Amino acid sequence: MSLLILGIESSCDETGVALVEAQGGAHVPRLLAHALHSQIEMHQAYGGVVPELASRDHIRRVLPLAEAVFAEAGRTLGAVDVVAFTRGPGLAGALLVGAGVGCALGAALDKPVLGVHHLEGHLLSPFLSADPPEFPFVALLVSGGHTQLMRVDGVGQYALLGETIDDAAGEAFDKSAKLMGLGYPGGPALSRLAQQGDPTVFALPRPLLHSGDLDFSFAGLKTAVLTQARKLGDQLEARKADLAASTQAAIVEVLVKKTLKALRQTGLQRVVVAGGVGANRLLREQLDAACARQRVRVHYPELHLCTDNGAMIAMAAAMRLQAGREQARRDYAFDVKPRWPLDSLC
Ligand code: KG4
Ligand code: ZN
Repeated sequence: MSLLILGIESSCDETGVALVEAQGGAHVPRLLAHALHSQIEMHQAYGGVVPELASRDHIRRVLPLAEAVFAEAGRTLGAVDVVAFTRGPGLAGALLVGAGVGCALGAALDKPVLGVHHLEGHLLSPFLSADPPEFPFVALLVSGGHTQLMRVDGVGQYALLGETIDDAAGEAFDKSAKLMGLGYPGGPALSRLAQQGDPTVFALPRPLLHSGDLDFSFAGLKTAVLTQARKLGDQLEARKADLAASTQAAIVEVLVKKTLKALRQTGLQRVVVAGGVGANRLLREQLDAACARQRVRVHYPELHLCTDNGAMIAMAAAMRLQAGREQARRDYAFDVKPRWPLDSLC
């Protein structure tokens, strides 16, 4: 028996819709089609996401995206078995759009609905690739709002090993980029500029590198970048690529070394990297090199599925249902969870 799952993502500044088909047994669910609209351009003028604008844009985009997905997959709305939506964490107003549309579709079709944890979506997104990982693995979850190392033993079996005590890695990229006038979101821009710079020019701190635990801290690094930028004054423009390269090197070194420590601590031989910062080229290069030396396999989501998307939400729903961790219900009185710890799912 197969299940057709519609997934809707609207937790922040991307509207994503996707169709995933889950077969019975142990088969990895299959992505049939997905469509995405990024609001980045709209928010750029404000230097960050404006929640009210985000919600309104999700409303405009979500149904046309759904139509595109059904057309691409050659399926009809009536064929959907379960409607999944992101229930949290994220911006409340933005989440309400996806949850409202998801539950309205469920009610209209008389089909069950399922609220999905956004981070579980990121965590399981490498299962959308042609060469999916096997459990158990260490997961490095690095997004704009979260930086966590987890031990993952199966769907819904997540043990937190360490996390950031202040800013997330993506936030460190974005805030440093903003200080350098690189716009929003700065991560990709900073990483592009860094390619022309020398990462050894500025000695920036590697916070908590030798703390003995698996926690992270990036707030001090951002302050160090600010101090350095101020010190440079008029010189900043000319040295920006070096500062970008030095910043990126500091963030990546901490992420790679802590991930290796998590592997040693757990004795596991597999890593999954998920979340927007997982698109960073230097992180991929350095983690791949370090893990190859230790015969550890590293899995990433496909590059275009690193940042927020509907495919990972449909996939997480499919895998939770398949694993028997969840039952979709004909319960359309939805709520959203702007703050929602991942380990509360276990
Ligand atoms: O997972 P995501 O799309 O959204 C959240 O759930 O937060 O991650 C977005 C974050 C942003 O901070 C963005 O700057 C960062 O991922 N990011 C990158 C790169 N691509 C996206 N950071 C560094 N290098 C990149 N290539
Ligand atoms: Zn995300």
